[in-house]
Amino acid sequence: MLELADADVFYGKAQALHGISIACAPNEVLALVGRNGAGKSTTLRAMMGQIPLRQGQRTLDGADITGLSLPDSSRRSIALVPDSRDIIGGLSAEENLLLATLSHPPGHWTIERVYSLFPRLRERRRAQGTSLSGGEQQMLAIGRALLTNPRYLLLDEPTEGLAPVIIEQIVAAIEFVSRSGVAVLLVEQNFRVPRRVAKRFCLLDSGRVVWSGGRDQIDDRLEAMLSGLHEGTHA
Ligand SMILES: Nc1ncnc2c1ncn2[C@@H]1O[C@H](COP(=O)(O)OP(=O)(O)OP(=O)(O)O)[C@@H](O)[C@H]1O
Ligand SMILES: [Mg+2]
Repeated sequence: MLELADADVFYGKAQALHGISIACAPNEVLALVGRNGAGKSTTLRAMMGQIPLRQGQRTLDGADITGLSLPDSSRRSIALVPDSRDIIGGLSAEENLLLATLSHPPGHWTIERVYSLFPRLRERRRAQGTSLSGGEQQMLAIGRALLTNPRYLLLDEPTEGLAPVIIEQIVAAIEFVSRSGVAVLLVEQNFRVPRRVAKRFCLLDSGRVVWSGGRDQIDDRLEAMLSGLHEGTHA
């Protein structure tokens, strides 16, 4: 179980997270949804140990890892795919993958397995990072994270700005990875993609969890609330 409990996070003097409590269980796909600026990316960064907690705790399987550094968190089987994807443009797709293998001991995920998951990456393995499409970069970013053999995979808006046919490939990959026993924490701005792959949902607003529940509890009102279209007009 990877967990944040009562977590406060600040950027300078501005508080971004207010007492966030979120727990991602092994083998589950948990979705974190919310509008622009709700605090989704900050929550992922906090879970990854990329940004310190001012208050609260981060635990992994019950052990306190609040102060654990980013590299140590990565060694402790947490991986973050940031929305910026952070592909190294001057290296080929395969070199980007090779680089990820250098910092971690070998495990289940190999470059061959990444290519089986995303055949497009095999075709494009010699292409420079800068010449990859958005979808290819996303696949590469997920592949690179998998090569660290995570037990917890944190995905920040993996389908943002991608064509429907590519979104289908990313969704299929998330389902495959999840079935292989990796827990996935999926951040998206709306419920569209998450409701296909996640059973449990947390809705974030203004740095707080304002709702959490199961797939069958997501109704039109909740979706409308999230889209902001009818905000304030509901009784
Ligand atoms: N590097 C930063 N420095 C200062 N403030 C930041 C920084 N990153 C985020 N914030 C602020 O923290 C709050 C939460 O931002 P965050 O990026 O976590 O939201 P988000 O839900 O991921 O939004 P989006 O959907 O736009 O990605 C916002 O008010 C944002 O302006
Ligand atoms: Mg974000």
